[in-house]
Amino acid sequence: MQIRKNDTMNKKIVLVTGGAGYIGSHTVVALQQQEYKVVVVDNLSNSQADVIENIAKITGEKPDFFSFDLANQAETFAFFDKNPIDAVIHFAAHKYVNESVNEPLRYYNNNFVNTLNILKAMEKHRILHFVFSSSCTVYGQAEVLPVTEQTPVKPAECPYGNTKQVTEEILRDICLVNKDLQVISLRYFNPIGAHESALIGELPIGVPQNLLPYITQTAIGIREQLQVFGNDYNTKDGTCLRDYIHVEDLAQAHVAALDRMLSQNQTDNYEVFNIGTGNPYSVLEVIQSFEKVSGTKLPYKIVGRRAGDIEKVWADTTLANTVLGWKAQKTLDEMTLSAWKWEKQLSIKN
Ligand SMILES: NC(=O)c1ccc[n+]([C@@H]2O[C@H](COP(=O)([O-])OP(=O)(O)OC[C@H]3O[C@@H](n4cnc5c(N)ncnc54)[C@H](O)[C@@H]3O)[C@@H](O)[C@H]2O)c1
Repeated sequence: MQIRKNDTMNKKIVLVTGGAGYIGSHTVVALQQQEYKVVVVDNLSNSQADVIENIAKITGEKPDFFSFDLANQAETFAFFDKNPIDAVIHFAAHKYVNESVNEPLRYYNNNFVNTLNILKAMEKHRILHFVFSSSCTVYGQAEVLPVTEQTPVKPAECPYGNTKQVTEEILRDICLVNKDLQVISLRYFNPIGAHESALIGELPIGVPQNLLPYITQTAIGIREQLQVFGNDYNTKDGTCLRDYIHVEDLAQAHVAALDRMLSQNQTDNYEVFNIGTGNPYSVLEVIQSFEKVSGTKLPYKIVGRRAGDIEKVWADTTLANTVLGWKAQKTLDEMTLSAWKWEKQLSIKN
């Protein structure tokens, strides 16, 4: 069945939780450009209100925006009572591995309670479509690479990873009893980069824990030097390998997932897809790409391995390419260049 998204009288309304955040904001743009009507809920705990204005600058349309904490059940239920919603894409969560180790209760509380509140409200209002932000962390250090969706899930090594695994299990259980409910979990690999307009991008609070924001902040002078954690791994140049994916490509995967469920094309009412490029790059290759596109020399030094880092992981994307009908388009250079443009734009603003 083909859905008619672009019938203005009948646009599908998508709730994007965490839509002011990094991946959420790019997905809001992609959805609006595909004629979905978007409603954002975000408590701005890890984002800023002007993201909503910047989305409107890109698309010409301001998404409806509600600022409240989805862990608050009364407010969440009241929101669903008042607003008609056709589908939910659920990004809102805490996302830092180290933080989750030190503050497990805060992580379990936010990531589970808000998800359960949403699922209960969806049940009450018979909202039948849900896309979940999962992560390749569920695979841990897999024995066989690349990882497919059938690769065994490893015991989580941190509370954050556990929230992704257990939420996937909760969704699978709910789908077993509610056959009308359609759910897709997208296991993201390593999202980087920013929108080509440089109007939205990643806004790390404090010292970045991910590679590319650390690189761009070093290049712009906020950080003195990048530390490369370990060059004695069993990889081509000794540094860790990851499957980096441009955030705009990742955003498109959500549109594809939504199209699939709204078109009633799912073969199972709970489906999982790996969302990566399938191409692993080392830390040194990312640095080289950044230096090439930015024309800057990056100060970095090799230090010892960082606890908790896995050596290598990349995706087998066959399922996403063939079944979901989605394929990443952008190159590593496009990723690093867009991140650099975003960093420069931020430095002008501040
Ligand atoms: N960025 C990554 O590398 C990565 C990788 C794999 C999975 N994910 C998952 O993707 C999702 C989005 O990640 P992101 O990088 O865009 O993070 P982000 O922090 O930029 O965005 C999350 C947004 O959710 C909001 N939020 C958090 N808790 C909330 C609550 N209780 N109520 C309302 N709003 C709340 C935050 O203010 C923020 O704007 C998360 O679920 C994350 O775990 C991210």
